[in-house]
Amino acid sequence: MKQLRTFKDLTLTEIDYLLQKAEDPFMNQRSEKTVANLFFEPSTRTKYSFEMAEAQMGVNRLDFSAEASSLSKGESLYDTLRTFEAIGTDLLVIRHPKSRFYEELEGLNIPIINAGDGAGDHPTQSLLDLLTMKQEFGCLRGLHVVIAGDILHSRVANTNAWILKQFGARVSYTGPVEWMPSHVRTSEILTMDEAVSQADVMMMLRIQTERHGGTEQWTKESYHEQYGLTESREKEMDSRAIIMHPAPVNRGVELADKLVECPRSRIFKQMQNGVKVRKAVLSYLLETKGARNYEAIV
Ligand code: CP
Repeated sequence: MKQLRTFKDLTLTEIDYLLQKAEDPFMNQRSEKTVANLFFEPSTRTKYSFEMAEAQMGVNRLDFSAEASSLSKGESLYDTLRTFEAIGTDLLVIRHPKSRFYEELEGLNIPIINAGDGAGDHPTQSLLDLLTMKQEFGCLRGLHVVIAGDILHSRVANTNAWILKQFGARVSYTGPVEWMPSHVRTSEILTMDEAVSQADVMMMLRIQTERHGGTEQWTKESYHEQYGLTESREKEMDSRAIIMHPAPVNRGVELADKLVECPRSRIFKQMQNGVKVRKAVLSYLLETKGARNYEAIV
């Protein structure tokens, strides 16, 4: 049985053969694309919906574990990603705790999809949220979307508020003022009771205790009562209004347990749409054609 345990397992003839084979053009022909998914922060929906999208598209996938990589020997993020570029990866999907991590990666010549950066941005989440609202209402113009909860620490809130306004939606906010960045404090702010009676979309956000540094002022119960979407508040919503949440959900905190799968909840629909939009983005970036000549209908 042929093995390669040490270099001495190879004869000189075999070594010569392997060196020639390594440069054989036939060996280096590639028909399939390869994507590396690099998650430096925990994820369920984003990571596995990218994996599902890649599997459905027949794209090869390289899995990455920061702990098992040479990052643990002190290698930089840039050198890690440059390595993926060097070995022939076609595209990198990256989630990273540092906001705007991608600004440090100027020298790379490989497309990157941001799968969430700190409290910065989460573009594919915003795409799936837009798709969910378009499926529901047909058009985003004039839609009243209330973004509710821990806005300060949410990359979803930042990105969605910006893009929804671009599409002509009305965006207002509700939640503890301590968790509102300064630009939000000068926007339209509603109480939770006002919000539920006016919104077409209640876009609930996860309370991100891991980013609060142990400074919680509320118990789960008191937060739910004051700022949460309770079962009684849900009854005040318009008959066509929907509930969205990027998830994971703190059941019984920002959103009542029973509302997670109530008829007006679109939370699991958002997850289904996650696979669709991630396939679209992967396809667009891997093929570098498609939208360039597309005339947007807003
Ligand atoms: N919505 C979202 O980004 O979920 P994950 O953190 O599980 O990927």
